Amino acid sequence: MTGTQAGVTQSTTRSGHALLDREVAIVTGASAGIGAATARALARRGARVVLAARRAERLDAQVAAITRAGGSALAVPTDVADPLQVEALVRRTLDVYERVDVLVNNVGGGAFAPLTLEPAEITRMIDANLTGAILLVRAVLPGMIERRHGAIIAVAAVTGAVALDPLYSATKFGLRGFTLSLRRQVAGSGVAVSVISPGYIQTDPAHRSRPLVPGPDAVARRIADLVAHPHREVFIPRFHRAAVWVEHALPWAWDLAIRSQVVQPSGASR
Ligand SMILES: NC(=O)c1ccc[n+]([C@@H]2O[C@H](COP(=O)([O-])OP(=O)(O)OC[C@H]3O[C@@H](n4cnc5c(N)ncnc54)[C@H](OP(=O)(O)O)[C@@H]3O)[C@@H](O)[C@H]2O)c1
Repeated sequence: MTGTQAGVTQSTTRSGHALLDREVAIVTGASAGIGAATARALARRGARVVLAARRAERLDAQVAAITRAGGSALAVPTDVADPLQVEALVRRTLDVYERVDVLVNNVGGGAFAPLTLEPAEITRMIDANLTGAILLVRAVLPGMIERRHGAIIAVAAVTGAVALDPLYSATKFGLRGFTLSLRRQVAGSGVAVSVISPGYIQTDPAHRSRPLVPGPDAVARRIADLVAHPHREVFIPRFHRAAVWVEHALPWAWDLAIRSQVVQPSGASR
């Protein structure tokens, strides 16, 4: 069965998974965690995946695993906090695959980072979590619009919708604001834009199997689904929607809930 939705052309297997036949996907932060799992999930569905992160040897290991499983993948060591490396990532993808159909802006870190970080470290966190994502969209969007074909997915966080963590929330609110605004601006262009906002995800294999805490593969499957079936924003696990509803409707309830856990700018608990 084939069909076209805003975003990518898709075929569907009997199990209901959309096949991303030879779509070209860039996944950032693909050397570990959710990004690595997303690269594997997209490759399993037939996409040709470009894996970007700083640690070349980890990227190579991910590419080798994808290739062994019959998929197609390319490692492009990239620090997304560096605009020149972002440009080089897109250029290399176009040199090898000639287009970009899917962008997964997954890099993100610094949860619970204290405000006492040095200014350069704060700037670097914002550059990695937010500016890099914006620059990547800036680089790939014109080609997607020209071909009326593309999917952009941002990996934000529940703390990008519930204000709990000043530095990290600043970057994730920013990423959500950018991506959701973009979604409105490109509506009808053939480019689909989605946000996925995870709560706590168990990315360390040594600590798996906590009840109600999904692992990276569950997030990756959802991201792969969003390529063919875009959605404004999904929360994973879904029950986090309630936390976001409370933030909008009863913000004082969150004030009370985190009162005892307030952290001073120095990093010390009150
Ligand atoms: N895990 C959770 O509980 C959770 C919850 C909510 C949201 N999220 C979001 O989900 C996304 C993935 O999280 P995760 O837990 O999978 O993270 P992770 O396991 O720490 O992996 C982060 C990935 O990003 C890469 N990376 C970090 N800085 C980079 C930079 N400047 N340039 C390029 N790559 C960079 C890392 O690789 P290198 O070190 O090799 O560069 C690694 O591949 C993030 O946006 C995070 O904020 C996670």
